[in-house]
Amino acid sequence: MPDTISFARGAPSADLLPVDAVRLAAETALNEDATRALSYGTGIGHPGLCEWIGHRHGGIDPARVMVTNGSLEAGWMLFSHLLEAGDEVVVEQPSYDRTLLMLDKLGVDRIGIQLEADGIDVAGLEQALADGHRPKLVHVIPNFHNPAGCTLADGKRRRLVELSAEHGFWIFEDDPYREVRFGGAAAPTMLDLAEGTDAKVVHASSFSKTVGPGVRVGYLIGPGDEIKALAKTANETYISPNMLAESIVLELCRSGDLDRNIEFVNESLAERRDALVLELGKQIPEAEFVVPGGGYFLWLDLAEGTDTREMLAPAKEQGVAFVAGPDFTLEGGENSMRLSFAPVPPGEVAEGVSRLARALEAVRA
Ligand SMILES: Cc1ncc(COP(=O)(O)O)c(C=O)c1O
Repeated sequence: MPDTISFARGAPSADLLPVDAVRLAAETALNEDATRALSYGTGIGHPGLCEWIGHRHGGIDPARVMVTNGSLEAGWMLFSHLLEAGDEVVVEQPSYDRTLLMLDKLGVDRIGIQLEADGIDVAGLEQALADGHRPKLVHVIPNFHNPAGCTLADGKRRRLVELSAEHGFWIFEDDPYREVRFGGAAAPTMLDLAEGTDAKVVHASSFSKTVGPGVRVGYLIGPGDEIKALAKTANETYISPNMLAESIVLELCRSGDLDRNIEFVNESLAERRDALVLELGKQIPEAEFVVPGGGYFLWLDLAEGTDTREMLAPAKEQGVAFVAGPDFTLEGGENSMRLSFAPVPPGEVAEGVSRLARALEAVRA
C-alpha cells in the first residue's frame, strides 16, 4: 500500500491516462496538420476542433465555439468579460473552490444557494430574486458536481432557463463531467434548452476528464457576439491557445479514440466509485452522501459537530488525504469533506477508508 492514499485530487491516477492513443494522435497530427499545429492560430482556437465540438453538441455553429487552455481559463475570461466588482453572482453551496476564489478576486458579491440531492435549490434562488437580489450570473455545475457529486434534475434545468429569460441573468453552465457518465442518457444541457428563448447561457466543458488534464484543452459555447469578444481578448492576451495540443485532441476526436477512452475511463471510475461507496457503508456508516452517477467526487456529511479540518493532521499521520468541506463553501461545511475516487485504484480503497475512519476516531477521542 502507498504511504499516502489520496482522495484529495480531482485527477485520475496515471493508469487512466491514454498514453498510447495520444502518442498515435500526436504522430498523425504532425503528419497531417503540422502547419496549423506548429503555427500561431487565432483567439478562437483550432478551427477544426471548434467545428468538431459544434457537431458534438448537435450542430452548433462553430463560430459560437471558442477553444481555450482548459475550461478554468475559459471561466476566468468569461467572468472578467461579463462582471464588475460589486455585481451579484449566484454560486451553489458547496461549489468548486477555484471558481469561488476567482469570483472573490474579481470583487463580486457571491450569493450562496444550497445544493440539494438533485442540484441547486431553485426555489431558494427564486426566493433570493423575490427578496431583491439581482444576480448578473448564476454559476451551475449541472452534472456529477464538484464537490457534491449530485446532478441537476431536468425540471430544475428548465426552470433555471426560464428564470434567466425572465430576470436577464447569465447562466454559466460549467460542465466538464458531462461525458464522465456511468450509465443512462445525458440530461439536456441548459445551452440546448435556451435555444430560441431569451435565456442567456454560456456552456463550458473540457477534455481534461476525457483525455487528461495535462492537455489543457477546454472550450466555451455561447452567443456569437460574446464568443467574438472573448476571442478578441484571447488574441490580445495570448495570441492563440496551444494549437499543438488542440491538433492532437482533434485527431483523438476524429479517430474515435476519444470515445474509446471515455468508455474505458467511465468503466474504471465506476468501479472506483462502487468500491468507495461499499467501504464507506461498512467502515463509516454515519457518513451521508449522494451516490454520484458519474464524475470524480463524493461529498460526505459526517455527524453534526465534527470538524473535518481537525481531521487533516491525524489523516496525514494515518497516510490518507481529503479536502475539508469549508474549502468549498462561503460559510459552514465543517462537518463535510470531499473525497475524489478518481485517483484511488479499487484495491486501495478499503485501506484508504480505514485510515479515514481512524482519523475520525482520533478527533473524537
Ligand atoms: C467544475 C469544474 N470546472 C472547471 C474545472 C477546470 O477544468 P479544466 O482542467 O478544463 O481547466 C474543473 C476541474 O476540476 C471543475 O471541476
